[in-house]
Amino acid sequence: MNKRNLLTLALATAAIAACATSPVDPRPAYSESDLRQMDAVHRRDFHPRGIAKMDRFDLDRVQRACNQYKDNPPEDLAKALQAEQIGAIKFPQGELLGDWKKGQKIAQSGRGMTWSDKPGSANGGSCYNCHQLSPEEASYGTLGPSLKGFGKLRGNTSEIQKYTYGKIYNSKAYSVCSPMPRMGYSGTLTEEQIKDVVAYLLDPASPVNR
Ligand code: HEC
Repeated sequence: MNKRNLLTLALATAAIAACATSPVDPRPAYSESDLRQMDAVHRRDFHPRGIAKMDRFDLDRVQRACNQYKDNPPEDLAKALQAEQIGAIKFPQGELLGDWKKGQKIAQSGRGMTWSDKPGSANGGSCYNCHQLSPEEASYGTLGPSLKGFGKLRGNTSEIQKYTYGKIYNSKAYSVCSPMPRMGYSGTLTEEQIKDVVAYLLDPASPVNR
């Protein structure tokens, strides 16, 4: 091996070692004053109307930490927040599987929560915005993984039902800076609606699994 190749090899080895050993940067990406400025801009430019009020800008601890650390908080903090989020899931007593046909409508609907919606009207789950669900779906987003065949792949045990319900209720309980909305935690979907969506994902008769 000539000198030049040796040097290239040494550099490549050093680069690999650096990747393997460098710890996650524990410093926040944004300071408190950066965050205050961003919040002030949002509040300045948003005009409350109908059911869309200023409380939409009130962040909880998880949202603040994920913003502050650009979705990569230090491990200890991430663990503590995730434990809080798991604790915040309200699992219903008894059956977690509802009606998959209703679940399909909810998964395919992106309606709700705009200023022109009436208070208390039912919301959609917007699942199709980020996931492929049924193989018949004409268009869908790809920010999240495809859930086609989800029940076929994972089975229908009570643990899987519980995980699926919990993930939809509060995705941040399983992955702390998940971009998936916390459907139950935020009150976007009701317990009944989440059960219907769980059935849509897990029921063998659902188009997701056919
Ligand atoms: C804004 C995008 C977005 C929306 C809307 C969304 N998800 Fe997700 N979802 C994700 C992403 C990204 C992941 C993977 C990363 C993670 O787990 O956070 C995910 C993960 C999941 C998982 C776990 C998959 C696995 O392999 O374990 C399930 C189940 C799920 N989503 C169901 C749903 C359902 C049902 C809805 C609608 C009620 C929904 N999602 C709405 C983005 C979204």
